[in-house]
Parts: sequence; C-alpha cells; structure tokens
Amino acid sequence: MQIQFLDFQPHGDDRGQLIALEEGKEIPFPIRRVYYVYATTPEAVRGRHAHRSLRQVLVCVHGSCRVRLDDGRERCEVLLDSPRRGLEIDGLLWREIDHFSPDAVLMVLASELYDESDYIRDYQAFRALAEEAWKEKELGEKEFGEEERP
Ligand code: TYD
Repeated sequence: MQIQFLDFQPHGDDRGQLIALEEGKEIPFPIRRVYYVYATTPEAVRGRHAHRSLRQVLVCVHGSCRVRLDDGRERCEVLLDSPRRGLEIDGLLWREIDHFSPDAVLMVLASELYDESDYIRDYQAFRALAEEAWKEKELGEKEFGEEERP
C-alpha cells in the first residue's frame, strides 16, 4: 500500500515556527471542514471506519499517535509525531487511530462537511466493498491492457 505523506514547509524565524495550509497548495483538495481530537484517554481507539468519498489529511500538531490503514488486501501503520507532516487518506481505506500520547492533538482537514451517510462503520461491509473495488480496478486494467495491444 502506498502511504501518502505531505511534508509542510515551516516559516521559521527567531520567534518560532509557523505552518500554513492552503487548499490547492499544501492540501490537494478544497478544505470544507477542520476538526481536532485531543484529551484522548490512554486506551482510546478512534476511527474504526472507512469513507465512501471523503478525502482527509491528518496532522498530529502536538504529541503523537499511530494510524493503521487497511485497503481490504493490505494493512500498514504509520506514526504521526510532527506538525510538519500530514498523512493523506484518499480512497476506500479502513482507518484506526490509537497510541495517542497524553499531549496529542490530532487535526484533520476534510474535503466535505460531516455526512454520516459517507461512513462505512461495519468492517465486513467495508471488506466486501473494498474487494468489489479491487476487482473492478483489476478488470479495468486488464481491459485497458487488451485495448493497448496491436
Ligand atoms: P466519531 O466519528 O466517533 O470520531 P472518530 O472518527 O475520531 O472516532 O465522532 C465523534 C462524535 O463527533 C460523533 O458524535 C460525531 C461527531 N462529529 C461531528 O459532529 N462532526 C465531525 O466532523 C466529526 C468528525 C464528528
């Protein structure tokens, strides 16, 4: 699975650091919503869902947390521990976020307003949809390959 990190350029001077995030520049989609998670309990696991069409960038602006991603066929995990680095989540991916440090503040930039109907909260339903999407992709690639042949 390809992990899409976004590395932000801080504007630093002798007063400290500043990072600006603009849609179409640092963030590759229109930013329609921002939320942040903080004061998490040590055992907290957040997420545990996928989205049908939402695009997000996660930035742990303070402290650290672990993000686990699952595309239905592969799983991976990443540590977010820098305000300079964003994790882009785009496409049908199950996400779970845990191992929050006590001081963690996780900011999420999202491409759409909150919409419960965009959520897939059942893991088996996610697996079925992901498998369908994989098969469609493979079929598309095969057909494209056939068209390309002389
Ligand atoms: P939840 O989806 O459980 O958060 P997470 O994905 O971090 O585990 O959301 C917690 C509550 O906050 C739930 O009642 C829905 C609400 N909420 C909003 O009102 N707006 C939002 O943009 C989000 C992400 C959640």
